[in-house]
Amino acid sequence: MLKYDGLEIDLNKYAKIPNYLREINRNLLVELKKQATIQLVREFRYDNNHIPDYNIRINQQIYLLKYYLAYFLEYIAMYTVWSQIVCHANLTLSPTLKVISIGCGSTCDYLSLYFVLKDGAIKIPVDYWGIDLVQWDYISSDLSEKQIIRADISQWIKNNKSVFSAADIIVFPKSIGELTQKSFEELLQQVSSKECIMSSKRISILGSFAKLYHSRDIDRYNRFVETIRKKNNYKINKRKESNLSIDDPSHDTFTWFYPQEVDFSRLSLENHCNLFLQNDKHCRKCPAQEKLTHHPITKTKYFDYAVTVLEK
Ligand SMILES: C[S@@+](CC[C@H](N)C(=O)[O-])C[C@H]1O[C@@H](n2cnc3c(N)ncnc32)[C@H](O)[C@@H]1O
Repeated sequence: MLKYDGLEIDLNKYAKIPNYLREINRNLLVELKKQATIQLVREFRYDNNHIPDYNIRINQQIYLLKYYLAYFLEYIAMYTVWSQIVCHANLTLSPTLKVISIGCGSTCDYLSLYFVLKDGAIKIPVDYWGIDLVQWDYISSDLSEKQIIRADISQWIKNNKSVFSAADIIVFPKSIGELTQKSFEELLQQVSSKECIMSSKRISILGSFAKLYHSRDIDRYNRFVETIRKKNNYKINKRKESNLSIDDPSHDTFTWFYPQEVDFSRLSLENHCNLFLQNDKHCRKCPAQEKLTHHPITKTKYFDYAVTVLEK
C-alpha cells in the first residue's frame, strides 16, 4: 500500500503495468543490440533545459522505463485528490467527462483517471482528447473513448475551439514546461480569444510538474488557470497542491519496486557506450562527465502536482 499525503494507493490493483513495461524493456534490449554507440542514451537528459527527442524510439523506451510507473502513481494521487474535491463535495459531474490532455504522450494520465473512476465506482463515460506533438509508440490504454491527435496544442486549438471549450478537465501531465515559450503564449492567446468560451459549469485544471523546474511549471500553470478563470468568470472552488512540507513523513519515504526484469537500472547502460569502453570503463573521462545511469523513479518525493476546480 502506497501512503501519500493522506491517500492510500493499493499497488496490487495495477498488476497489468509490469507486463506493459516488460514489453518495452524487451524492445529496448533489441534496440541496444542494434546501436553501435550509446550516444542516444546520453542524449536522454533534462538538465540545462535539454529535452530528449521523443521522436526517437529509444528515448521513448528509456522515458517509459524510467518514469511510467512513477507518473502513473502520481496521476493516481492527483486524480484521487480531484475526485475527492468533486465527488465528496457533492459537486455533480457532467453526463460525460470531457478531458483534454495536453502533451498526453503514452496516455498514462488516461489510465490513471480510468482507475480512479473505477475504484471510486464513479460511473461516467470519458471523452478523452490527447494532443501531442509526437506520436508515441507505447499507448498504454486500449479504451475506445480515447482519441490521440498528433499536433501542437497551440495550433490544434485554433481549429478545435468547440471541442476545447466543452472541456470538463484540462490536464498537463508533465508537459506544461515542455511547450516552447512561443507555443505556450499562443495557447494563452487562443484561450483568451473571444470565440473560446468555456461551456462547462465546472472545470478542473490539473497540472503535474517537473520537480527540477517546479517554479517555471507552476508559474505557467497559474497563468493558464488565471487566464481561463478571468476570461470565463469562474470562481475558484478548491485548489490543492502536492507540495508537502519537508517534515511530512510521507514526503520522502515511500518506495515501490519494479520487478527485476523491468528494472532497467540493471542493464548497465554504460557497457553499451563506446566512449566508456574506450576510456577504460571510466565515465570520468567522458565529455558528458556524468555517469551513464538511468534509474527508474521510485519515490513519492518526486510527486509534484496541482488540482484547481473552477466554478461558474
Ligand atoms: C515529459 S512528456 C510527458 C508525456 C506524458 N504526458 C507522460 O505523462 O508521460 C511531455 C510531452 O509534451 C509534449 N509536448 C511538448 N510540447 C507540446 C505542444 N506544443 N503541443 C502538444 N504536445 C506537446 C511532448 O511531445 C511530450 O510528449
